Amino acid sequence: MSGIRTALVILFTLQRLVWAKNSSYNNPILPGFHPDPSCISVFDAPYKGTFFCASSSFSVFPGIPLHASKDLQNWKLISNALSRPEQLPNLSITNKSTSGIWAPALRYHNGTFWILTTLVYDDQPQINLSRWDNFLVHSSDPFRSDSWSQPVHFNFTGYDTSPFWDEDGKTYVTGSHPWNLQPGIDQAPISLETGEVGATVNIWNGTGGLAPEGPHIYRKDGWYYLMIAEGGTGLNHMETIARSHQINGPYLPNVDPNNPIVTNANTSAYFQTVGHADLFQDAVGNWWGVGLSTRSGPEFLVSPMGRETVLAPVSWPEGGWPIWTNVSGTMDGWQLPLAKPETRGEGPLITAPDHVTFPPGSSLPPQFVHWRIPVAENYAISPPGHRNQLRLTSSKLNLTGYDGNYAGPAGQTFVARRQVDTFFTFSVNIDFHPQEEEDEAGVSIFLVQNHHFDLGVVLLPSANTSSAPDVYDDTGASGLTPHLRFRGTLPTTPEVVIPVNSTWLGQTLTMEIKAFNYTHYSLSAGPAAHQHLMQTIGYAPAIGVTFGFTGTLVGAYCTTNGRNGSTEAYVSNWRYTGQGQVRT
Ligand SMILES: *[C@@H]1O[C@H](CO)[C@@H](O)[C@H](O)[C@H]1NC(C)=O
Ligand SMILES: *[C@@H]1O[C@H](CO)[C@@H](O)[C@H](O)[C@H]1NC(C)=O
Ligand SMILES: *[C@@H]1O[C@H](CO)[C@@H](O)[C@H](O)[C@H]1NC(C)=O
Ligand SMILES: *[C@@H]1O[C@H](CO)[C@@H](O)[C@H](O)[C@H]1NC(C)=O
Ligand SMILES: *[C@@H]1O[C@H](CO)[C@@H](O)[C@H](O)[C@H]1NC(C)=O
Ligand SMILES: *[C@@H]1O[C@H](CO)[C@@H](O)[C@H](O)[C@H]1NC(C)=O
Ligand SMILES: *[C@@H]1O[C@H](CO)[C@@H](O)[C@H](O)[C@H]1NC(C)=O
Ligand SMILES: *[C@@H]1O[C@H](CO)[C@@H](O)[C@H](O)[C@H]1NC(C)=O
Ligand SMILES: *[C@@H]1O[C@H](CO)[C@@H](O)[C@H](O)[C@H]1NC(C)=O
Ligand SMILES: *[C@@H]1O[C@H](CO)[C@@H](O)[C@H](O)[C@H]1NC(C)=O
Ligand SMILES: *[C@@H]1O[C@H](CO)[C@@H](O)[C@H](O)[C@H]1NC(C)=O
Ligand SMILES: *[C@@H]1O[C@H](CO)[C@@H](O)[C@H](O)[C@H]1NC(C)=O
Repeated sequence: MSGIRTALVILFTLQRLVWAKNSSYNNPILPGFHPDPSCISVFDAPYKGTFFCASSSFSVFPGIPLHASKDLQNWKLISNALSRPEQLPNLSITNKSTSGIWAPALRYHNGTFWILTTLVYDDQPQINLSRWDNFLVHSSDPFRSDSWSQPVHFNFTGYDTSPFWDEDGKTYVTGSHPWNLQPGIDQAPISLETGEVGATVNIWNGTGGLAPEGPHIYRKDGWYYLMIAEGGTGLNHMETIARSHQINGPYLPNVDPNNPIVTNANTSAYFQTVGHADLFQDAVGNWWGVGLSTRSGPEFLVSPMGRETVLAPVSWPEGGWPIWTNVSGTMDGWQLPLAKPETRGEGPLITAPDHVTFPPGSSLPPQFVHWRIPVAENYAISPPGHRNQLRLTSSKLNLTGYDGNYAGPAGQTFVARRQVDTFFTFSVNIDFHPQEEEDEAGVSIFLVQNHHFDLGVVLLPSANTSSAPDVYDDTGASGLTPHLRFRGTLPTTPEVVIPVNSTWLGQTLTMEIKAFNYTHYSLSAGPAAHQHLMQTIGYAPAIGVTFGFTGTLVGAYCTTNGRNGSTEAYVSNWRYTGQGQVRT
């Protein structure tokens, strides 16, 4: 008997060594502005081993991007859970870049996908709403944006709400209650159909770190596990865990291994701020963890892409605690699922370049975003006489808006996509014939309203030049000529204003943003028909777009800089190409 058992053990071990070879892969899995990930695996038909992730979108619209993968490597944008302005009209009136959509929790239950999240209002006393507007949306076909429901709002004082279905059929919401009270994790029974919430119980306060948040409940081996983030979302970020035999506690923290169960705090790792995590299993039962991380090193100075999604192999022995692998740029661990890349859904693989030509009858691709809800009529694809162009009708406000914080429902005309590569080149062609002083169209490397750099064509008085050239004399009767203006929100980066070279006037211009080295972007312009004449007008330091909760966007804008009335610019030949990732 024992001989047979030994043989079986040897065979099993050999089988693991030979066939279950561990894999290596790279982080981040969702590069760029994809913070606070919540990820699941779904094995029911028609999903059969598909992984899904949702991430925070703050002020951008469409909101809550959903990515899917079959192999945990190739991640495809499949839909945006908030794609219709009528789902959440108040996203157009939020103030400050810390507001908007925080930390969606994605779960699948009995054929339906659920997302619980919070619309946060920061610094808006005049609206007189609660700071926390919690709501859920659901879908039975997450590969389509239009499948996501209208929100069901529910009353929860706090944020980072996450659902849990207990074995007795009851459903609970667990969330973080705010830090202006004693911070901690609260839980209440909820009806996901009606949004009705029962009595709230304070179930854990964490291990004493700042801002206990991002809770998720897992049921395993007779325990309820409660995993949360602590330390705030900066360098002290960490993930901690506790467990209980009852859903509503008391929850007791782990002792071996001790909390935190994963962090990169106090290390020299390039990937910092690891936390705000979630756990799921693959088809063979191996556990994986996702969380957010910032590629900044402990210096924490240059990380324009902000908080990104990383993946780590996790071991979770029966009756024990989950053991994470430390997060880095190159990972070793469980064999990755062997599967063909996901092909369903609306958007591209996250690593795919853009070449968008705005053909007639098309819509803006799902990876394109606006800052808050766009004014629909300000964006027209292939309008009459302008085949393969996107017409941008100006907003009165420029990308800074009123005070670097607010813009209101009249919005800011801006269409963009996320920076997802350390090095990249983004360019568009622009046809623009400004009529009035300060009419402007161009390209922006944009983090938030008070952190951006723009290169625009702008109509200015002819004398308004920082280096008065004597070779131009294009002053019309108005005394105004088109200039190239580079400027941004970082006071130490000087504005550059030069007249558009007279030989380029009236021509289609190419405008380009390039992350050409680790610390700086170049912003360049030239005649589209003569690319060898491209001139770099300004250099934008990445520290000027490193800040806060979000990550950089690159895109095109059109504004009258405060003037009533409007102007139009035509954008074409939109390209974004990644040129490398720094991972260490
Ligand atoms: C949206 O904001 C307005 C105040 O501007 C408020 O009256 C209204 O109740 C809000 N709507 C929702 C769904 O919260
Ligand atoms: C699962 O969903 C079906 C319909 O979609 C419903 O009839 C059934 O009651 C649900 N089961 C549970 C356990 O919620
Ligand atoms: C937005 O927040 C800023 C900074 O707190 C504040 O000064 C401003 O009044 C707020 N604007 C609105 C419209 O709420
Ligand atoms: C805000 O609402 C509270 C409670 O509903 C009320 O007491 C207060 O007067 C309101 N404030 C404003 C500015 O409307
Ligand atoms: C929300 O819940 C809190 C207590 O949990 C209660 O004081 C408040 O009245 C509720 N608000 C609404 C609109 O039901
Ligand atoms: C959380 O802290 C508050 C305030 O100190 C305390 O009253 C409460 O009992 C704590 N909750 C738990 C679950 O320990
Ligand atoms: C990092 O080190 C500081 C200073 O020793 C300490 O206060 C903090 O708790 C540490 N953070 C983590 C997550 O270990
Ligand atoms: C993870 O990193 C920490 C801090 O550098 C280190 O103490 C620990 O041994 C590492 N764990 C593993 C499994 O490498
Ligand atoms: C494979 O990866 C898992 C998860 O990181 C780890 O526990 C295990 O030791 C690895 N096995 C080998 C043979 O490296
Ligand atoms: C303007 O463009 C012409 C033609 O390409 C070029 O010869 C000239 O040097 C440019 N002028 C300036 C000031 O760059
Ligand atoms: C990147 O280029 C800028 C502008 O030329 C320069 O000031 C900066 O030092 C460069 N950064 C690195 C890391 O080489
Ligand atoms: C934005 O527009 C305002 C007028 O609405 C103007 O005062 C400000 O200088 C402009 N600034 C930037 C950086 O966009």
